[in-house]
Amino acid sequence: MSHAEDHAGTRRDFLYFATAGAGAVATGAAVWPLVNQMNASADVKAMSSIYVDISDIEVGTQLTVKWRGKPVFVRRRTAEEIEMARAVKMDELIDPTAENLNKPGADASDENRTLDEAGEWLVMIGVCTHLGCVPIGNGSGDFGGWFCPCHGSHYDTAGRIRKGPAPRNLDIPLVQFTDETTILLG
Ligand code: FES
Repeated sequence: MSHAEDHAGTRRDFLYFATAGAGAVATGAAVWPLVNQMNASADVKAMSSIYVDISDIEVGTQLTVKWRGKPVFVRRRTAEEIEMARAVKMDELIDPTAENLNKPGADASDENRTLDEAGEWLVMIGVCTHLGCVPIGNGSGDFGGWFCPCHGSHYDTAGRIRKGPAPRNLDIPLVQFTDETTILLG
């Protein structure tokens, strides 16, 4: 890949990220009234957590939101993506750990990476574990997941590193459902 293509890829991804982030995050009004009644540490905690409305995310698409200064990918996976991820054997993985703050020490099986048991929802920090570029999604790379064009890291449909210089799977932040269409990051 030439440098020009390289940069175009990065720019496209950034624009998508900026656009998606603007409309998607439910914070501010819901958070600020509470902050006045809290002590300093709770104040910081509230500001570092955000609710994300996921009701408009279609199967096979990804929403990118900005959280704590980083992009977070919220992907609603297709049945095929789930099947591909679950067919992978542990000994094929470069990083055998889930890298999931919600499941410390768990192995990198697909079930330990996703937010729900069925595996439809995958939420990850969108920062390549090599040198911090934002990988391109939507089925990119040799493993149908994400591709980081900076130095050629390929991630599978569970966000696990499969090829290239990145040492770790994409990190999964603290995240939970608060209702059927809302998740809480942090
Ligand atoms: S930063 Fe992703 S491959 Fe180098």
